[in-house]
Amino acid sequence: MRVGVLYGGRSGEHEISLRSAATVIAALDPARYDVIPIAIGKDGRWRTGIESLRLLDDAQRDLKAIPDHGIEVTTAPEPTRHALVPLGGGAPLPLDVVFPVLHGTYGEDGTVQGLFELADVPYVGSGVLASAVGMDKAIMKSVFRDAGIPVCRWLVIHQGAETSEAIAARVAAEIGYPCFVKPANLGSSVGISKVKVPGDLATAVADAASYDPKVVVETGIDARELECAVLGNADPEVSGVGEIIPSHEFYDYADKYVDGAATALIPAPVPPEVTEEARVLAARTFRAVDAAGMARVDFLLERGTDRLYVNEINTIPGFTPTSMFPKLWEAAGRSFGSVVDRLIELAIERHRARAGRRLSFNPPTSSASARRSSGGSL
Ligand SMILES: Nc1ncnc2c1ncn2[C@@H]1O[C@H](COP(=O)(O)OP(=O)(O)O)[C@@H](O)[C@H]1O
Ligand SMILES: [Mg+2]
Repeated sequence: MRVGVLYGGRSGEHEISLRSAATVIAALDPARYDVIPIAIGKDGRWRTGIESLRLLDDAQRDLKAIPDHGIEVTTAPEPTRHALVPLGGGAPLPLDVVFPVLHGTYGEDGTVQGLFELADVPYVGSGVLASAVGMDKAIMKSVFRDAGIPVCRWLVIHQGAETSEAIAARVAAEIGYPCFVKPANLGSSVGISKVKVPGDLATAVADAASYDPKVVVETGIDARELECAVLGNADPEVSGVGEIIPSHEFYDYADKYVDGAATALIPAPVPPEVTEEARVLAARTFRAVDAAGMARVDFLLERGTDRLYVNEINTIPGFTPTSMFPKLWEAAGRSFGSVVDRLIELAIERHRARAGRRLSFNPPTSSASARRSSGGSL
């Protein structure tokens, strides 16, 4: 089976993606899979070639972007080729399935998923809708609320739509301090600030808005952080629960990827009823956004009350050696190799199920039945 592994990309999480991809590629059994590495540069161009794997190895060790190499390829947005197409001409490279190991914008947000839908190539993980919903913290929270999933209080700011005085007044009235200010669409804690006093709000909002003109402000919860992994399509498996203990004031970028001082505890040392509640909520959260394949669901467990809130769903969780997703499965007795095998199976199952969809409908011809079936649309 030919598996295209996409990594790098244009997002701020390019370097994290390289580390995740190295773990995924190492877990793909060469007896079962032919790996086609697809390195997406920071310029957005796709390249493949025998050098890609070696470069990936170097790049992820030094945390630097993939340099130019190999041949430039693309995927045509039409369903007849199922292949990578060399831009300089030459034979297309057939693909049986694609594994997007891309975090953040243009990777985890439904855009690249849309391309593979058009190209009719099965891909690992969530489809367009769940990816986009999981990426947008404002829409995501509305969907969770609608599904009865507990979320903290939040408000949304559209840059330029109101004055900073109006924003300050709304935050004071609806959210209070401390609050968290976040770009709606991003990840890895980039652009996120914890704001303790009203005087620091405007700077935090401007910083978040420099990443995304849509900004979310949330009630700051004094909380422990729990995470749970989900694997499956319609009836997913849920892992045990892990706890992240940040070494910084909150789990920021440096704590996630630079200092390596945050600790992960598996299983989370919480009462069994909290573990059970988190596992049930993880499956409900996965279904609420219509996720597929995999996800990591992150929680805030409020100190003092033991109230559990869902903070977010990540539809392409980190797969670095220190990431929770692979560790949670290992703790559940599933090697990362078997997780990757399952993800590929799930991608193909989902593709097959959707391929059976009727894409068009033959309208009835008699005017009587046309009138009957036209519903309210005329
Ligand atoms: N409402 C909140 N209350 C308390 N801590 C929060 C809250 N929102 C975010 N945090 C802290 O900020 C971190 C990053 O926020 P998160 O929403 O998970 O963004 P990202 O998608 O970048 O991971 C969380 O892991 C947590 O440490
Ligand atoms: Mg997070």
